[in-house]
Amino acid sequence: MCGIVGILGKGPVADKVIEALHRLEYRGYDSSGIASLEAGRLEVCRAEGKLRHLEAKLDRHPLHGDIAIGHTRWATHGKPTERNAHPHATRRVAVVHNGIIENFRELKLELEALGVSFQSETDTEVVAQLVDRALLEGKSPVDAVASVLPRLRGAFALAFLFDGQDDLLIAARRGSPLAIGYGDGEMFLGSDAIALGAFTNRIAYLDEGDWAVLTREGVVMHDEHGAIVQRPVQTVPAGALLVDRGNHRHFMAKEIYEQPEVIGHTFGHYIDLENETMALPDLPFDPRTVKSISITACGTAFYAGAVAEYWFERFARIPVSLDIASEFRYRETPLDPDGVTIVISQSGETADTLASLRYAKECGQKVVAVVNVPTSTIAREADAVLMTLAGPEIGVASTKAFTCQLATLACLAVSLGRTNEHLSREDERRLVRALMETPRLMTEALKLAPEIELLARTLAKARDVLYLGRGTAYPLAMEGALKLKEISYIHAEGYAAGELKHGPIALIDETMPVVVIAPFDRIFEKTVSNMEEVAARGGRIILVTDPKGAEAAPVDAVQKLILPEMPATIGPMVYSIPAQLIAYHTAVIMGTDVDQPRNLAKSVTVE
Ligand code: G6P
Repeated sequence: MCGIVGILGKGPVADKVIEALHRLEYRGYDSSGIASLEAGRLEVCRAEGKLRHLEAKLDRHPLHGDIAIGHTRWATHGKPTERNAHPHATRRVAVVHNGIIENFRELKLELEALGVSFQSETDTEVVAQLVDRALLEGKSPVDAVASVLPRLRGAFALAFLFDGQDDLLIAARRGSPLAIGYGDGEMFLGSDAIALGAFTNRIAYLDEGDWAVLTREGVVMHDEHGAIVQRPVQTVPAGALLVDRGNHRHFMAKEIYEQPEVIGHTFGHYIDLENETMALPDLPFDPRTVKSISITACGTAFYAGAVAEYWFERFARIPVSLDIASEFRYRETPLDPDGVTIVISQSGETADTLASLRYAKECGQKVVAVVNVPTSTIAREADAVLMTLAGPEIGVASTKAFTCQLATLACLAVSLGRTNEHLSREDERRLVRALMETPRLMTEALKLAPEIELLARTLAKARDVLYLGRGTAYPLAMEGALKLKEISYIHAEGYAAGELKHGPIALIDETMPVVVIAPFDRIFEKTVSNMEEVAARGGRIILVTDPKGAEAAPVDAVQKLILPEMPATIGPMVYSIPAQLIAYHTAVIMGTDVDQPRNLAKSVTVE
């Protein structure tokens, strides 16, 4: 995690570095810093906490250099203090880093034995010290970095600035993304293209193992063996780089309200509306011969996979094994070489999901990636990519990316079912029509906001909240609970309603709200029994349902959020909206930092 920026400019660049760091705050925001050359000499300014603290410091002590590197941090090694904030610098070199140097302890011991003393508790500082020693030995900056990179183990991105070198930045990528931006007599470096959106739309991405030497003239890129390589320069559409909150108080609210639109785009991409058929790109496998599908992902993306498990099994009759990526990658599960793995990731950079993709490929499987960032590592390494067209998602808690993942996976499941003939042409037409109702029904669901705002006042007083659901509403219950704990810091758990009596029922008393997600379907009756069990123990039920469900629900102790009736398949997408709004409004009442909740980061590029 962490965001990296580097700028070789024509005039003072500190303001631009700050602007780029703002766009990277989704990657981490517990401290930040900048290093620039002031009259040729290295100067560093760092601050604990949000970026505004760094800005306040820079107001008091401005930096005027026309070359600088900057960093916004999500702490891995060492507390989020000013001392541990990046850049880490010696007299000769400053470095910013994203990722983890796994062998930093042994490198640190080696350096300490040589008399080097360390100023921070970070893994990053060993990189600065190693390069510093190489410079002291008389190596040039380029040779110094080239000699140090092979000694580092782990997944990282690095940027270096050198004392006395006002036309040189060096960058390196192994496992964490880095984009190079081309300006007119200026060059830029950033963790992603969004960071550089205000300065340039001409971008090249470093490949795995690459390192690059930037001057104002341009860039020379090397692969991991040192050979000079060219990476394609792409022109990124301007709109894709510009994100703001619009009229909303938080990015999360904006992103919740964008869902009818972006889900429409996503369906539009995968559905031939005229013929009412699925229109997915060619896939690298034949669903008629695939015996099973593995799905793996992290966080919210994992819950999208958990919903899709029901769809793949129901529509395509293909059994699914579902795993959290951090478990899958180490479980050494035997994978059928003819099988298929689906990885799901908003960012396309999540370290555990990427490692799972690589494991599946090593086992000979074909990997399909459902991602939101087309230029991401996961998108580039997968055999096939199914894009979610959610647009940039800035709020750390995923909302629109989640529902677009669901939309994409629903299309994939129906398409596979059609190809292997478990679904008839008529089934496909019926399902396409159902899916196309989602944007309208989501707009209806958003109208529940005032009611949910009132409800949130009660929820904000709770210490724990339980979420229950059956069928696809079960993973949705877990996602609802995750959303609430992520942004309001209220403890919440999602459970399969049928599991209630196997444990969580012991927690229920009159202080414990229980959110039951239950559209009126063939198993609604079963959920009613679970609600009775909660009510009998004084629990306060919030039932998210439709008009039929509201009528059939037990009357006592129930507060109802009523959505329109809808086809079962689109339930998970539409019912996500009240789940998201419950978390959002509760967090707003609690006064938490909704878009950047404590301890979390949007893109988790470390294990
Ligand atoms: C982090 C984010 C979550 C996200 C998860 C997986 O934990 O805070 O919102 O669901 O990573 O991220 P990905 O980019 O792979 O979907």
